[in-house]
Amino acid sequence: MKPLQDPVPQLPQLAWVLMLLTAVVGLVVGVVLVQLYGPAGPPPAVAQVDKAQQGPPPAGSYHRPATPAPDTALLPHSAAGREIRYGRALVARTAHYLGPRGVVAPLTNGMNCQNCHLQAGTQGFANNYLAVAATYPKRRARSGTVEGIAKRVNDCLERSLNGRALPDSSRELRAIVAYIKWLGQGIPKGRKVYGTGLIKLPYLDRAADPVIGKAVFASKCQRCHGPAGQGQLLADGGYQYPPLWGPHSYNDGAGLFRVSSLARYVKAAMPFGATFDHPQLTNEQAWDVAAFINSQPRPHLPTPHDWPDSSRKPVDHPVGPYTDSFSERQHKFGPYQPIENAHPMLANAK
Ligand code: HEC
Ligand code: HEC
Repeated sequence: MKPLQDPVPQLPQLAWVLMLLTAVVGLVVGVVLVQLYGPAGPPPAVAQVDKAQQGPPPAGSYHRPATPAPDTALLPHSAAGREIRYGRALVARTAHYLGPRGVVAPLTNGMNCQNCHLQAGTQGFANNYLAVAATYPKRRARSGTVEGIAKRVNDCLERSLNGRALPDSSRELRAIVAYIKWLGQGIPKGRKVYGTGLIKLPYLDRAADPVIGKAVFASKCQRCHGPAGQGQLLADGGYQYPPLWGPHSYNDGAGLFRVSSLARYVKAAMPFGATFDHPQLTNEQAWDVAAFINSQPRPHLPTPHDWPDSSRKPVDHPVGPYTDSFSERQHKFGPYQPIENAHPMLANAK
């Protein structure tokens, strides 16, 4: 009567092992799912709708996105692939190709596009290019015309790089446009990408103060950008640290010459290493240092054709004439809210 007795006690043991295994597998699957889709994961870098721009930034940054900006290293070695790669190189190392000792032509002041469009135009809220393909051609109030990507690139060459425009037919301009279009592929028209352009920064209720800003500069910026804001040159004529003012900096027709654009850039990108979700400056420091930098001397660009409709000038456009009676000084440094209240249509204008 012995048989059958033996296997019986083993059954519960087997069941335990199976249950334990199921639990472990379930736990692992659960953790993986939460990592992939759960609220704790980083946000997708692309394809969020415009209203995401209004709220506080989600955790995570473009340095470690769930869906990284496309990588040119993965492109095929076709003619199209080579053109896009060349475009990226021109953005990252503009001085090498187009700087004062540029191997293509000496067209610019020696800065790189990437000095302001960080990580070749892919870092969140550091003037990234991801939405450009989806939003251009567009009508811009500054020129009063519809601009394509090539015109917009040339704007930065003439203003931010205080240089000369590239011919539309040039290999270089076509490569830069190809790179920017490729970066924005897959982003639907009419949608903004989370992290595009610059971060929103609340206005101060006082004027931004260049005197306070000078102290911020001395403690937070000077060690790289130099005591006279002159930056630090590399042997190839490009910059290790780009200049913030003086003869080799952006001119007074450039986007960064608006105190708000500079403050918004600096808040999310400087001192170097800061990101929009790990800023290193308070809002006040960003506004005041921007006021200081944009009070220093820099090249002048005559722009008689800008703003054909001057009522469309942004509230902080630093140069008159204006259609209101606020002073040029208040337009430049603020307080901006009273000016904005007088022009409700400008509240969301760029
Ligand atoms: C000194 C800083 C600086 C440099 C250098 C610079 N840019 Fe810009 N760029 C800006 C700013 C600021 C804006 C946004 C201006 C605005 O709309 O007010 C901008 C806007 C753009 C835009 C439009 C972006 C959009 O979403 O509408 C493109 C495209 C662009 N730049 C390309 C370039 C290229 C290509 C280069 C190099 C040849 C370059 N930029 C160099 C500061 C710079
Ligand atoms: C650790 C060094 C470092 C510090 C500190 C630093 N920067 Fe920069 N800054 C850089 C570098 C490097 C770049 C160019 C980034 C690139 O090309 O990838 C840059 C670019 C810039 C630019 C855009 C290009 C230009 O020259 O106009 C501005 C504006 C700027 N910094 C402002 C500031 C301000 C304001 C501070 C202080 C709050 C600051 N930086 C502190 C290293 C630094």
